[in-house]
Amino acid sequence: MAKRTVVTMPGDGIGNQVLPEALRVLRAVDFDAEYVHADIGWECWRREGNALPQRTLDLLSTHKLGLFGAITSKPKKEAEAELNPELKGKGYSYFSPIVTMRQRFNLDTCIRPCISFPGNPLNFIRKKPDGGFEEPFVNVVVFRQNTEGLYAGVEWTNPPETVRSALATHSKFKPFVDVPGADLAISVRVITRNAARKICRAAFDWAKKYGFKSVTICEKPNVLRETSGMMEEEAKSVSKDYPGIALWSTNIDAQTMWLTKNPEEYGVVVASNLFGDVISDAFAGLIGGLGFAASGNIGDEVAVFEPTHGSAPKYAELDPPIVNPIAMFLSAVMMLDHIGETEKAGHIRGAIAAVVKQGKVRTYDMMRIPGGAKAIAQGAASTVQMTDAVLRELDRLRSSPESRERELTGVGSRK
Ligand code: NAI
Ligand code: MG
Repeated sequence: MAKRTVVTMPGDGIGNQVLPEALRVLRAVDFDAEYVHADIGWECWRREGNALPQRTLDLLSTHKLGLFGAITSKPKKEAEAELNPELKGKGYSYFSPIVTMRQRFNLDTCIRPCISFPGNPLNFIRKKPDGGFEEPFVNVVVFRQNTEGLYAGVEWTNPPETVRSALATHSKFKPFVDVPGADLAISVRVITRNAARKICRAAFDWAKKYGFKSVTICEKPNVLRETSGMMEEEAKSVSKDYPGIALWSTNIDAQTMWLTKNPEEYGVVVASNLFGDVISDAFAGLIGGLGFAASGNIGDEVAVFEPTHGSAPKYAELDPPIVNPIAMFLSAVMMLDHIGETEKAGHIRGAIAAVVKQGKVRTYDMMRIPGGAKAIAQGAASTVQMTDAVLRELDRLRSSPESRERELTGVGSRK
């Protein structure tokens, strides 16, 4: 396979701690790649008035493959206040670099697997009527439309008169007609049929490829009749091409309740942008939370993989770092799968599964203790120690293919 170049964007805060650890893991499975650093995030904004500089976009255009850590972002007023004084008042305005990156490269398919690792003390457990507990195996992959919906960015406080008068043509806008502009904020939920169809098809393709029995479209078509209605319509239409895979339709509110009752019943879940964001975080909470939640932003040409968590500023300065790098590792695993390096991906997944199952090395989140400087003294592994444990396991699995097979069977694998 031709040598790959991966654009690495650690970003801010703990992004700088977890991304280098993922590179150690990728090197350990001999993933033959070059890594080029690219700037992104809050520090970049402060320095140059742009959180996603053109040189980073150029690197992504050239190499098509990115690994991203996390960024800090803050509200508009703070963004202005923290900008380099020389740039202030020169028309710079802050935009989320992640949202911009998704839109710029049309990374319209966001994949967020939420799969439990046996032995993870953070796994969801359910109380049984007899007072005992059971731990259902969660194996859900959320497909989130990544470029449209309520995150399309079409929004105003004090909308221009043309917009107001267009809105006034809608009978449901009547109660808002006289609201002063400064007191009126509007965000537009844009759904296009092509994008709706594409995300539904991606979800069904995944279900077919990995043997899932159902795809759940998670929207709110009874209220959001036009936008969620179109999503549901497309899911129904696409489902006809996939006999044997059931299409379920749930409402986002009810789904967030049901997923804690019977999460093992769900397979692939597909949703528009905001609902996909919400439901994937909710499912991630059942399999370990932010330390385990990985995602891929996939476009026709470019793909960028990232943990779901943010820059966790309160832990960013700790030495040694304490945050869990597994979400970042799993993002790297998704990248390997995406480019066809499935064996290497499987090895890393197997090594993580083994470390989690053994339970000897756990970061603070896995111990359910507060994060902070004292966590290490309380027995938590540092970020680097977690990587070391995964590397040791990779070594062990390499030297004993039989145990590797055993570890890989049913552990973190898909239905
Ligand atoms: P966050 O995800 O950074 O952290 C929330 C809490 O989750 C942390 O305080 C920590 O307790 C825990 N946590 C996060 N990652 C962890 C890990 N790898 N291991 C163990 N524990 C972990 O979210 P928060 O505090 O809401 O936002 C902080 C900054 O990150 C903000 O500026 C926000 O805008 C940004 N953000 C960026 C995202 C991204 O880059 N994709 C996503 C979410 C937030
Ligand atoms: Mg989110």
